[in-house]
Amino acid sequence: MTSSRTLKNILVTGGAGFIGSNFIRVLLNNPEFTGRVINLDKLTYAGNAASLDDVAAAFPERYIFKQGDICDRAFVEGLFDEYGIDTVCHLAAESHVDRSIEGPEAFIRTNVNGTFTLLDAARKAWIGDFEGKLFHHVSTDEVYGSLGDTGYFYETTPYDPRSPYSASKASSDHLVMAYFHTYCLPVTMTNCSNNYGPYQFPEKLIPVMIENMLKGKPLPVYGDGKNIRDWLFVEDHNTAVWAVMQGGKLGETYNIGGENEWENIRLVNTLCEVVASEAGKEVQDLKDLITFVKDRPGHDQRYAINCDKLKNELGWTQSLDFEEGLKKTVRWYLDNRAWIENIKSGEYRKWMEKNYTER
Ligand code: NAD
Ligand code: DAU
Repeated sequence: MTSSRTLKNILVTGGAGFIGSNFIRVLLNNPEFTGRVINLDKLTYAGNAASLDDVAAAFPERYIFKQGDICDRAFVEGLFDEYGIDTVCHLAAESHVDRSIEGPEAFIRTNVNGTFTLLDAARKAWIGDFEGKLFHHVSTDEVYGSLGDTGYFYETTPYDPRSPYSASKASSDHLVMAYFHTYCLPVTMTNCSNNYGPYQFPEKLIPVMIENMLKGKPLPVYGDGKNIRDWLFVEDHNTAVWAVMQGGKLGETYNIGGENEWENIRLVNTLCEVVASEAGKEVQDLKDLITFVKDRPGHDQRYAINCDKLKNELGWTQSLDFEEGLKKTVRWYLDNRAWIENIKSGEYRKWMEKNYTER
């Protein structure tokens, strides 16, 4: 794996979320990284600082948590000054497609305005000395739109976002590249497929299904269940992000994917088998909970990533087989009931009730 940049004081945005908390854990446990991580997170419904309690205890000098909003210019500029930030890994976002359909405004604010605020704060802090600086933007394959039965998303695929979430992420991607071309801000970008693993908020497909199976509740499959996603274990996403941050070419994007396509209904059936075996339940009892519900408006049919560029240029590869990853994930949800129960706030319950009773 190419390793050319020395990154020292890394501002991670959204580090209390699913992927961000895993990124920080992986990074601080990597003996080759000796710098500091400053985690800037607003702690929205999706953020949970307690997800990093172990990291805070293990690395008291090198892990700093700052609660704040990426749209708050003065606060963000203050962090660049106070901590001598030389690197940004930008993950903070509103990330749930269904919520973007219900209420797009927060997505425009955080994903578009927030990304602009960070880019501009970085430009101001680093102007005249871009040497040794890096702004890495974590984005999604959803910016490419929806595939039919064949074909893949390449880095060169034209953008065609179809939900308020993906449109807001596409806008943020364009801003990142505009700052590279216009101001020479040193940027890299990654566009990844669907992640799964521990600490994922239980509103996304896999944790919703695991939770409902454990509670004996209906398993809500949207539409005909034939939509396809390309699944990647969260840690594999983050080793790829780190590889790009260290060795990726400035001004370029790298696709990250699982090369692991599953129809939703097939995935839910497999998950029933994994949960049955890990939790000691009857597979058929779980399968009987599968319920087809009203489809998501504008539901993208298929995502499939071609990540040859990342593999060929930076030597990255996926490390975990899907069945093993699902088993690991189910085990984590079984063993971490306190984390789950803690995040099930009133707000979360209201969202789940509304989302699933209207269909
Ligand atoms: P998440 O929703 O679990 O976490 C998002 C985090 O951002 C939360 O901790 C939240 O509190 C924080 N946040 C939200 N608004 C903020 C603001 N205004 N200021 C500061 N912090 C704020 O999301 P995730 O699934 O971990 O995704 C992280 C990033 O990766 C996102 O940019 C997302 O678009 C991208 N991504 C996600 C996936 C996936 O499958 N989950 C795949 C590809 C790309
Ligand atoms: O592809 C990357 C994207 O993956 C990320 O950019 C997003 O942040 C992330 O949320 C995810 O988006 P999806 O919409 O693909 O993920 P979600 O888990 O919401 O849905 C996955 C598939 O499962 C999708 O086809 C919708 C379907 N689904 C989802 C839920 C929550 C169901 O059938 N039932 C459900 O209850």
